[in-house]
Amino acid sequence: MQMTSSAIRRDWKTEFEISPGTVFLNHASFGPVTRRGRLAAESLMERWGRLTPGPDVDDETFAMLASSKGRFARLIGASAAQVAFAPNTSYGLNAVLWGLNLRKGERILMPEVEFPALVYAVKNIAQRLDLTIEPLPCPRGYLELDILEKALARRSAVLALSWVQYFNGYRYDLEEIASLCHASSCFVLVDAIQGVGAVPLDVEQARIDALACGAQKWLLGQTGSGFFYIARSPVREVQPLEAGWLGVDWGYRFHDLKDWNKPAFEDGRRWEIGTYPFFSIRFAEAGLAILEECGREAAWEYIQGSLSHLLEDLQGSGYQPALLPDARHRSGILSLKGPRTREMHEHLHLCNVHTSFREGTIRVSPHLYNTEDDIAALVEAMRRFEAGG
Ligand SMILES: Cc1ncc(COP(=O)(O)O)c(C=O)c1O
Repeated sequence: MQMTSSAIRRDWKTEFEISPGTVFLNHASFGPVTRRGRLAAESLMERWGRLTPGPDVDDETFAMLASSKGRFARLIGASAAQVAFAPNTSYGLNAVLWGLNLRKGERILMPEVEFPALVYAVKNIAQRLDLTIEPLPCPRGYLELDILEKALARRSAVLALSWVQYFNGYRYDLEEIASLCHASSCFVLVDAIQGVGAVPLDVEQARIDALACGAQKWLLGQTGSGFFYIARSPVREVQPLEAGWLGVDWGYRFHDLKDWNKPAFEDGRRWEIGTYPFFSIRFAEAGLAILEECGREAAWEYIQGSLSHLLEDLQGSGYQPALLPDARHRSGILSLKGPRTREMHEHLHLCNVHTSFREGTIRVSPHLYNTEDDIAALVEAMRRFEAGG
């Protein structure tokens, strides 16, 4: 049964290819295959694969890129010019960090609990450029504003953090964070993959300087595509460190390529340095279309409804949220903890209920696809385990 919510107008389950009987509550790990995505990628493959006589496919292909990019940009309230494709989140984070032209001794702030995509990107650049990393204490499992404020009292070049914590679902108020950081001219770089596609975000309002996001989770895409965004007037200039033949303007005509003096694109395309993962982008675009049709607010309301349901159904259970912040700090992730959590997670898998095990908790992450029955199946499987069955 679809969740009782006025938010969404139709049953989205039919859009997904998950086998009947499988309860998939693991969007924070990866997005399941969408029918539309498969068809879109297959039709592109068909078009390219047949190699029959016909018009050059370049026009079509680059039009597809423009339309996909428009969708990525709309999702976060940006313009397409501010967005570049990237194969994953890590690429975008690295591109921005290296594009900042950081100098020896400059400081990067980062919460001490962070997903390794940021940790290793920051560690690497810090070692290579002799920068200082300041890990910010997170005694409650997330960065508190007074700790950030204290850290900002010393000049800091960048704050790098995830919008939503991968293991406890804590969601930062980016507007608050950016306003504190900007008062000290500190650049705000956000790993947004655990938030965008579940929670609506408007980058103009949040005023962060840059974000990166893979399409393989909440955006309902698959691996190999994603994007990053850079604000029109970031607190510090960002320029691509790398260049390549597709970052310059050939007018999408690739017949005469001996020109060494083509101008670089002025918009996000200057970051796109080589041949695109077309199939993956095409697949992701189909997922973005689903999100657009549903509406960002409606999708978020629906996800919250699923998690509220779960919380209600768990009353009296030995498994409770590891963290349950105020509504404005919640996300599509709810992590549960109880006795023998790892064994419970394994039991759920055996019951064909898919969640993930992160930092000692069972991470539940529903999306548009999930129904009341899915939540009921999860709770029932948990109860069986608790009852020793
Ligand atoms: C917060 C966060 N950042 C990044 C990633 C993944 O990074 P990438 O898209 O570079 O593989 C994940 C999960 O896989 C994540 O939870």
